[in-house]
Amino acid sequence: MTTRLRSSVGKFGRPPRVRFKIRTQLGSEARYFKDLNWLILSNVFTKSTVLIFIYFQGILPKKNRDQKFETANSTNFMKKSFVKIFILQAKPYLVYKMRSFGLIFFCYPNEGRSEFPEIELMSIVNSKLKCQSNSFGTYYIYLFFFEIPCVLISNWTRGGLPNFPRPLRSQAFAKLLRLDMGYFDEPINSTGALTARLATDAGKVQGATGRRISQIFINIGALGCGLGIAFYYEWRLSLLTFAFLPFMIVTQALMMKLMTGNFGGKEQQAIENASKVATEATTNIRTVASLGRKAYFGKVYKDNIDVTFEGKVQKINIYGILYGASLGVMFFMFAGLFRFSMYLIDAGIIDINRTSDIFRVLTALVFAAETAGQSAGMAPDYGQAVLAARRVVKLLQFPTIINPASREGQRPEITGKVEFSAVEFAYPTRKDVLVLKGLKTVVEPGQTLALVGQSGCGKSTCISLLERFYNASAGEVKIDGYDVTGMNLKWLRSNVGLVQQEPVLFAIWVLINFHQPCQDIEAALKEANAYDFVLDLPQGLETRCGKKGSQLSGGQKQRIAIARALIRKQKILLLDEATSALDTESEKVIHIDQP
Ligand SMILES: Nc1ncnc2c1ncn2[C@@H]1O[C@H](COP(=O)(O)OP(=O)(O)O)[C@@H](O)[C@H]1O
Ligand SMILES: [Mg+2]
Repeated sequence: MTTRLRSSVGKFGRPPRVRFKIRTQLGSEARYFKDLNWLILSNVFTKSTVLIFIYFQGILPKKNRDQKFETANSTNFMKKSFVKIFILQAKPYLVYKMRSFGLIFFCYPNEGRSEFPEIELMSIVNSKLKCQSNSFGTYYIYLFFFEIPCVLISNWTRGGLPNFPRPLRSQAFAKLLRLDMGYFDEPINSTGALTARLATDAGKVQGATGRRISQIFINIGALGCGLGIAFYYEWRLSLLTFAFLPFMIVTQALMMKLMTGNFGGKEQQAIENASKVATEATTNIRTVASLGRKAYFGKVYKDNIDVTFEGKVQKINIYGILYGASLGVMFFMFAGLFRFSMYLIDAGIIDINRTSDIFRVLTALVFAAETAGQSAGMAPDYGQAVLAARRVVKLLQFPTIINPASREGQRPEITGKVEFSAVEFAYPTRKDVLVLKGLKTVVEPGQTLALVGQSGCGKSTCISLLERFYNASAGEVKIDGYDVTGMNLKWLRSNVGLVQQEPVLFAIWVLINFHQPCQDIEAALKEANAYDFVLDLPQGLETRCGKKGSQLSGGQKQRIAIARALIRKQKILLLDEATSALDTESEKVIHIDQP
């Protein structure tokens, strides 16, 4: 090869002195090319064998893994230090740790060795660079000033856009509060599932905003610069990269597809199910304990978490192969570039004096490929973000029929006449079962109406229709002759007080937190027969009542709820078995016939 090159140089009729110089230089460069080819090939080979090895190792029998998981679980985590926790964590995932160990031990020494010829080469090229170093210095000063606005812009996008998920999260929550009751009746929209979605989705959207966006801009810029430089110095060589481009795109596209595909959906469902089980079990921990169902809930939770684990294992394996393949394509591209540049020099297409240009092109292409690889690394985050954004947007655009935030509708002063005329109703989740079949009744102002019937006959349903939690399927619900569907929802609900069978007292509130005159509060508490026991509480009216009012007895909760309703002095008071937990004495004291 060297001889042929020498002869082609000879054609240009260089003086012998120069020829000698070139010969020595070319000799070591050619050796370098040969070495590098072998190094790259061996690198590709070891990497692919390690990947195959790790892939097959990753498929451990499921039973084995579960056992490990259980022994790890049964040990007391809190008792031991961080190291202990780390070891416990590592046990079931040992196989997966192997990957990283494997990669460090097998690949990096190899990669390290491949740097040596480059250093050797630099010393050759250095002599040429020396004369250019002055102009390089100037370039770097230009770069320095160019860098300032770039960093400013990138920080601006970083600083500005990460705020995006934050309002998104509160927007999603605000939307949740405005949704129809029918939405919450759906099993897939349980409390646990909704909180999980609220907590994770808005956060995941960040994967496609803020830092990512600025990084993508930087990468596009770097890629453009790299390719630009490469094309400027040697277009033939640069053109070769395009032959590898389809393979790169295919592997990247497959990686993206993997992350946004069905896997994400199945896993998300499992996470939501798990958090649904966790919320239900913890909020009703007494029931769970008394029924002896702790193990059952534990198992359901674990099964769901396992689904996410399985999904991840599958994904990691396929992702690993794809990532390996995309790296492989890159290395084959380098190998091809070196071979092709050899050919170009060999065939006399590239002047022997321009070998430094080849290195410029190669460096620029390596740089471009690296940034492209970096962007590819962001694919999973981006894929997840797209999925999460899809779910959030779906929630935000979910149609609300009964909108409490609406400013429209009548706001009449009412006296309190309630009228049901031929009302028919079926719950949205059970459209084929009519709960109310042509209900007709009139309640005059000042009158008290008691609905009596077996449980499940539709008493609470009537109340829900009057509060307009749902719309009647047929017929009309009227207050003072106004159809409730035509009234402003906020106005309607401010005129109708409701005490439910299981009153809810919020943990974040003190017992009574209305800005009302003291004597009104006192009167309401006395009327609800709650005054005496409230005074006996440690902080009186300022007492916080714990999660769902758990620090109060059922009867006390009901009395507080009745007082809370009485205090507002609404025209219509609805009591849905509100005194079911009261002793007969209290029940007598509460004058439910005088709202
Ligand atoms: N959110 C709901 N979704 C579907 N069906 C419901 C819902 N709430 C109640 N039901 C059904 O409607 C019927 C009437 O319930 P309800 O009005 O609560 O009875 P009650 O007279 O005991 O208060 C029952 O058969 C019940 O199963
Ligand atoms: Mg009821």
